[in-house]
Amino acid sequence: MKLAGKLAAAACLATALSLTVVGGATAKNFKMAVGDAHGSAQHELGTKFVELFEAKTGGKHTAKMFLNGQLGSEQDTVNDAAIGTLDFSLLAINNITPFSPSVGVFTLPYVILSLEDAEKLTQGDIGKELVANTIRDAGVRIVGWTYTGFRVLTNSKKPIKTLEDLQGVIVRVPKNEIMIASYKAWGINPTPMAWSETFTALQQKVVDGQDNPYLTVHSMKFYEVQKYVTALRYIFSIEPLIVSESVFQDMDEATQKAVIDAGLEATLHSAAHLRKSEAAIKEDLLAKGMQIDEPADGEKAWIEAATKAVWPEFFDSIGGVEKLNTVLKSLGRDPVQ
Ligand code: MLT
Repeated sequence: MKLAGKLAAAACLATALSLTVVGGATAKNFKMAVGDAHGSAQHELGTKFVELFEAKTGGKHTAKMFLNGQLGSEQDTVNDAAIGTLDFSLLAINNITPFSPSVGVFTLPYVILSLEDAEKLTQGDIGKELVANTIRDAGVRIVGWTYTGFRVLTNSKKPIKTLEDLQGVIVRVPKNEIMIASYKAWGINPTPMAWSETFTALQQKVVDGQDNPYLTVHSMKFYEVQKYVTALRYIFSIEPLIVSESVFQDMDEATQKAVIDAGLEATLHSAAHLRKSEAAIKEDLLAKGMQIDEPADGEKAWIEAATKAVWPEFFDSIGGVEKLNTVLKSLGRDPVQ
């Protein structure tokens, strides 16, 4: 049998195995890829979603999480969901932007300045528009939002407070053009790398540092291989729960409603979880030996360099400067032009 034929046969078998007929209706065990580890903000949202989804379908459907990138890199899971070989994925927004560039407005440095900003944008009209764009561009539907906090810079070399301190440090970033451009604006060439390879690269000192929120640094045990933290606020990490649009369209109306309602409730739970847990997690990182420094001068030089160079570079891909201005206006901030 040719490879394509074998793959098709394997896909049919896999589908048949995950479907069971219960009382005349087809029950399914959905698969959810999760990029992060047990105890992460993604895991917290995923657990809540699964619990709510199963309850809302009266136990007819189940869902199982596969943590720690077991089902592939975060960007690969977007492809898999797009072609319908994966049902759900929980991943950082920066790993969706390459497939649906307008989502980049949430990754532009210093646009989202608080959890309240993140909630307002994701749960309001702008969030709805980005959900529609992502279905159109990437074949996946965002049904929930994880709020994980600001991405802080960690490294194993030295305390970093100024842009001068940053020079010469090798920093891993996701394969995301906006984040690459941000570090270039700060004077260094970062190393783009899949999330699933990051811990080992830090451990083997292929790279010196990376950025991710406190909750992620903690759940991924980065304190074992990183010492210094710079409390940057350049990107507030939002991590969507996506469902394959073709899988979603194959669901009956009641199951679709269960997905949407469970996603919304899990989103609210995620915000409450961040509010409740972030301070204690930061304390625990200190107790585990990390050193946390504030960027010098209220982060002024970092903010100026990144917004001046990076915002204009991405106006076109996010849908024009008007798009950024709509976002800024909705957050009560001044437009850029
Ligand atoms: C990344 O750095 O690629 C992501 O933030 C990883 C994650 O999902 O936490």
